[in-house]
Amino acid sequence: MKKNWNLPDLKTARIRTKENTLIEHSLFEIPEEARNMGSGKKYFLRTYGCQANERDGETIAGILEEMGYTATPTWEDADVVLMNTCAVREGAEQKVFGEVGQMKHIKKARPDMIIAVCGCMAQEEAVVNRIITTYRQVDLVFGTHNIYRLPKLLYETYRTKKRTIEVFSKQGEVIENLPARRVGTHKAYVNIMYGCDKFCTYCIVPYTRGKERSRLKEDIMQEVNELIKDGYKEITLLGQNVNAYGKDLGYADGFANLLEEVAKTGIPRLRFVTSHPWDFTQSMIDVIAKYPNIMKYIHLPVQAGSDEVLRRMGRRYTIAEYKELFDRIKKAIPDCAFTSDIIVGFPNETEEQFQKTLEIVDYCKYDLAYTFIYSKRAGTPAALMEDTVDRSVKEEHLQQLIARVAKYANEKNQSYVGKTEWVLVDGPSKKNSDVYSGYTETQHLVNFRIKEGTKAGDLVQVKILEAKSFTLDGEQI
Ligand code: 5AD
Ligand code: SF4
Repeated sequence: MKKNWNLPDLKTARIRTKENTLIEHSLFEIPEEARNMGSGKKYFLRTYGCQANERDGETIAGILEEMGYTATPTWEDADVVLMNTCAVREGAEQKVFGEVGQMKHIKKARPDMIIAVCGCMAQEEAVVNRIITTYRQVDLVFGTHNIYRLPKLLYETYRTKKRTIEVFSKQGEVIENLPARRVGTHKAYVNIMYGCDKFCTYCIVPYTRGKERSRLKEDIMQEVNELIKDGYKEITLLGQNVNAYGKDLGYADGFANLLEEVAKTGIPRLRFVTSHPWDFTQSMIDVIAKYPNIMKYIHLPVQAGSDEVLRRMGRRYTIAEYKELFDRIKKAIPDCAFTSDIIVGFPNETEEQFQKTLEIVDYCKYDLAYTFIYSKRAGTPAALMEDTVDRSVKEEHLQQLIARVAKYANEKNQSYVGKTEWVLVDGPSKKNSDVYSGYTETQHLVNFRIKEGTKAGDLVQVKILEAKSFTLDGEQI
């Protein structure tokens, strides 16, 4: 039987042409026949991975709710189950396969239930092939570039009662005017660009999320202004590498200018992630320093401490250049907090090279760093590199690195004791409803006793009384 499937292809996903990206304002539609499809029905959505995926999850939820579906927190009673997946490391993928495996029985009992796999894993050939052969309970697979087609795809899956697979691998457009069901009521993510053209040799993201493409400034500002009107207090501008914002549109100093324009709206808190150390400009530093509502917190992934490893990772900077940037930001913004991503066990990383990673952690004394063991991703250049390092060595390095990172995180937290910090209240903690939690301007998590009447979304002053390894305790003053 000939299948009308559109399967992923990593080779096509790697291609970058000079063609301008299409910015589509009216591609999204819910066909007449699909309009009330979800009425009386429930969806369960689980999202893994980074903020980009979380934001995609909000779009998926928004689309489903426009089709009449309502959310349920458990997949057992859902009519549609969606797994919005992450492909950045193998561990995250195994978890999804485990969960989809468990759904087999319930699908047998309830054959009308639709199980969908989307997100970054859907963009990988090997994953989709494995689903086709081994995970027959999956009814629908759609890629990161296909979200806007969800109403049609879901309708087709119902109508034909056959598997639907639609994954576009070529470049990708910018699709505007998609609905969103936001998770937060006072903090929101705003995409400013999609994709990545950096092609670090270990990373699958440039393949699963496609070409770097920016949203028009006016579309971003419209979303920002709507959020402010709806009472949002904090906006985080999102991109795999926000520094590259606007380059594809021919904007000069694109990110610095955008950041400044958003800061000028007066939104109480403005954040951004992620910045690549390679194209972090002086004008960005100047803007961050100038506006008090731009939070003094920069996620600046270093990935490794050895120049040779950085070169083989394709990171485009040396440690001397990274330090120079770090020092320059610190000088301009003395109270700035820094976090990082660090990989250990890159193919053939030597003991000496790993020691250099510990050295850069000692140098930067990060407020926090996310640490990972290198995970081989099929289709990336690093997957072809020889690697003779034992897994046990990599695990030992990870433990050493975690301990070193924790030491500085703890020191940083200790330095807050006795100080008073502005905290944006997230809400009561799960264990004790008298204790609320929220983040400082520098993105440190605080648990604190509130004064009567304080509620989620308030900006309050909290005196820090005690520091734990990764959190602070305090009381509202
Ligand atoms: N293996 C381990 N970690 C990875 N990351 C990206 N790709 C890989 C990989 N193949 C990490 C990087 C990146 C973060 C989001 O995930 O540190 O900054
Ligand atoms: Fe991956 Fe590098 Fe792009 Fe980050 S900058 S998404 S690590 S390729």
